Amino acid sequence: MAALKPYEPGKPIEEVERELGISNAVKLASNENPLGPSPKAAAALRGAVDELNRYPDGGSVMLTRKIAQRHGVSPQHIFLGCGSVEIINLLAYLFIRPGFNSVTSEHAFAIYELATAASGGEIRTTPMKDYTFDLDAIGGAVDERTRVVWLANPNNPTGTIYRREAWERLLARMPDHVVIVADEAYFEFVRDPGYPNALNYLEAQPRLIVLRTFSKIFGLAGLRVGYGVAHPEMVNLLNNVRQPFNINLLAQAAVMAGLDDDEHVRRTLEVNAQGIEYLEREFKRLGIQFVPTQGNFFLVEVGDGVKVFNALLRQGVIVRPMHGYRFPRHVRISVGLPEENRKLIAALESVLGKRP
Ligand SMILES: Cc1ncc(COP(=O)(O)O)c(C=O)c1O
Repeated sequence: MAALKPYEPGKPIEEVERELGISNAVKLASNENPLGPSPKAAAALRGAVDELNRYPDGGSVMLTRKIAQRHGVSPQHIFLGCGSVEIINLLAYLFIRPGFNSVTSEHAFAIYELATAASGGEIRTTPMKDYTFDLDAIGGAVDERTRVVWLANPNNPTGTIYRREAWERLLARMPDHVVIVADEAYFEFVRDPGYPNALNYLEAQPRLIVLRTFSKIFGLAGLRVGYGVAHPEMVNLLNNVRQPFNINLLAQAAVMAGLDDDEHVRRTLEVNAQGIEYLEREFKRLGIQFVPTQGNFFLVEVGDGVKVFNALLRQGVIVRPMHGYRFPRHVRISVGLPEENRKLIAALESVLGKRP
């Protein structure tokens, strides 16, 4: 345990501003919603403040019911977590032990490896193809000691997706002793028609769990709420090992209201699509290589990732260096508001010395 390395989050704005003595830093480091939280969620949260002396509903009954309704499943199919990362950790805790392994792609979302290691298991990774999960290779790496396969679709930090045919081929060959985790944190942003909605496969797959989150499109990352949709038997197992009040009272109230905020979701998608179009155009103009994204962020090749990250910081723009993801030449940049994107491009232009 002492040898484990904790997850390294993006730098908070306040910390950067304090360190650099500046006041208008822009954070494009954690794939957050640049529009802010859903206003409906924020209002509901304020309304719930006077109840803070009470414990929350330990079963998050109303919220569970509402999410179930949205997906046309029973509440027994829904498990709420303190962010989807809590669910990832609980899945590793439930299914992985020393002597067992989990399989994912290289350059996959970092928590899969950390959770597996914390349970004493071995993580196996297969090479990517064109910055994308190779599901045939992942299927080939599964053996009798494999307990979990972690799939992020879209993946963070690459922003790429695997398509329906590859997904169905993988499902068809998965043995019964393997839990399949389809992490769809960026589901709502995807525009590719070949994208498989993993929820459509739940009925035939009792060992599949689909993860979604309120941290991205709903703009509620600070509240820490994600959920899994799975067979009731899997949901029961997760409920057996979670802490009793894992979704706090403010979070339950705010997410209930945020779920209905279609206008905020629509505006977020619009801002993201415009941001993608602008950033792609500017990256091309500057001759910067980037991976086309299905999410709300870009993996961008800049040379020395840490150096460029530090240089951008000094200009008041926070991005994320990617050496931890074994992309030492890249940074990851979240799509921001138009003015934030413009500030990023100006900073990149001066840092990389590409000013025409
Ligand atoms: C692929 C992926 N899964 C899960 C998460 C975690 O989301 P949450 O805030 O719900 O824990 C993230 C967050 O960045 C992510 O990129």
